[in-house]
Amino acid sequence: MNVSDSLWFKNAVFYELPVRAFSDWNGDGIGDFRGLIDKLDYLQWLGVDCLWLLPFYPSPLRDDGYDIADFRTVDPDYGSLEDFRELLDEAHSRGMRVLTDLVLNHTSDQHPWFQQSRSSPASPYRDWYVWSDDPRRFPGARVIFTDSEVSNWTWDPAANAYFWHRFYSHQPDLNFDNPEVRKAMLEVVFYWLDLGLDGFRCDAVPYLFEREGTNCENLPETHAFLQELRREVDARYHGTRVLLAEANQWPSDVVRYFGPFGGAGAAPAPEFHMAFHFPLMPRLFMAIRQEARRPIVDILAQTPAIPDNCQWGLFLRNHDELTLEMCTDEERDYMYYEYARDPRMKLNIGIRRRLAPIVDNSRREIELMNVVLFSMPGAPIVYYGDEIGMGDNIYLSDRNGVRTPMQWNVDRNGGFSKAPPERLYAPLIQNPIYSFQAVNIERQFQDTNSLLNWMRALIQLRHRNPIFGLGGISFLSPANERVLVYLRRLPKSAHRPGEGPDELPGARCVLVVANLSRNSQAVELDLSNFAGWTPYEMFGEIAFPPVTTTPYQLTLGPYGYFWFRLEAPGGQFE
Ligand code: NOJ
Repeated sequence: MNVSDSLWFKNAVFYELPVRAFSDWNGDGIGDFRGLIDKLDYLQWLGVDCLWLLPFYPSPLRDDGYDIADFRTVDPDYGSLEDFRELLDEAHSRGMRVLTDLVLNHTSDQHPWFQQSRSSPASPYRDWYVWSDDPRRFPGARVIFTDSEVSNWTWDPAANAYFWHRFYSHQPDLNFDNPEVRKAMLEVVFYWLDLGLDGFRCDAVPYLFEREGTNCENLPETHAFLQELRREVDARYHGTRVLLAEANQWPSDVVRYFGPFGGAGAAPAPEFHMAFHFPLMPRLFMAIRQEARRPIVDILAQTPAIPDNCQWGLFLRNHDELTLEMCTDEERDYMYYEYARDPRMKLNIGIRRRLAPIVDNSRREIELMNVVLFSMPGAPIVYYGDEIGMGDNIYLSDRNGVRTPMQWNVDRNGGFSKAPPERLYAPLIQNPIYSFQAVNIERQFQDTNSLLNWMRALIQLRHRNPIFGLGGISFLSPANERVLVYLRRLPKSAHRPGEGPDELPGARCVLVVANLSRNSQAVELDLSNFAGWTPYEMFGEIAFPPVTTTPYQLTLGPYGYFWFRLEAPGGQFE
């Protein structure tokens, strides 16, 4: 096994950002492509390999751009299509790739397709959406936006019928049973990939089809279309583009979106290169509050292996609420109790807060969470602003509290925009702990001890050690349950340094030790299989006492951690 260029995503560090929130070039109070281009040097400095841009298409913005009114251009608020092309060129010239959101499942009700569809039963677009006289169809499908919707059907007086929607009632679902819809959406895909885009984060993929007597999620028809999508993309772009699935499902259901790998019920053909690991995310937060490794170990035990040419997308926070859909009722209650004491912190089935405020701005916890995330099997995705510990505003509606302007420096509007403050698309965070005067890029850039510089070092360490993206994982079970311990190992087949052009640099065996507790802990590890080996602490390249056949003893401070490279006597190779 080696990391060929087409598998770049396996070892990439991703960075998610809304163009609107990042940097405003023309001073209208809204971030734009030129502003983002201006900040690409920063992202390159940080070590980002791939950007994921949230939707920037024309939209009434009732779901922050996931309600698309035109799939084939950019909203003028962000610039022109030419600016977008330039963004791609500028990113590529810095060795960075770009993914954007592909929203297949639905459109805005303002999309001309829907406007025509509702206008008359005779419209050629009528069948592009899912219409019914009876709102009792598909009763097995759950409502996803539980705080705002009571049903997946909404009455449309213009059409004199109900239309189907899995999200907001202004976001009608497209009818994927209609071959013209499938064709039109494939053309949207080609349109953007032809411009040179590197791939898509594919929104809401489990919900494309509806069938009576099912929950309308993960249906065979949906998988069949996604296989067609992959086949077309691979054929047309010779395997150079990447598809990342947003399928908020249990691991056993998500793995089916990767494709064939011999597991029971696996898809007969490839679908996605990557999929988010949704259930792991809340369990990382659960584990540090419970001071117990069990939630993490259990969910990974339930996660089937995935094909070698696929990868998990791992994240702590994103632009949505911290979703608790993939939790048991008990786990959910626990999470709400611990992390959402104020009812305003809750939204739908989740918690609408950013990383730093969730952990009460504890630098130690932020580091620990990232150290675990960056050493788990998968590719980490950083949400803009979390690299400096930005705060949130729970008094803004919906999920807008975690989508406020990026904080660059102490200038007007935190350096985000030269517009008058009242003209900004959203107010900056005012709270003195998290305000731009306290938390901003420029200040943390200059401070060698800042979270930003620590995050950069973490990203660099990860880049030097492809083992984190490629190696296997096995957990150790020390008696102290508060300490999470796992080994990452490259398979024997992985190329070693000096063995040709595809050689893999870095460690071949890494031991991760993480103290999930707020208090210091001691732990004894059975490392007898490694007797004679030397652990090197990877952040400082510090040799620790060699391993013997007796239990290896370690002590860790509150939320302390170690990444050890284990080296065999006489070199790092066994
Ligand atoms: C998932 C997106 O992440 C979310 O922001 C959006 O509201 C829904 N899909 C509907 O498009």
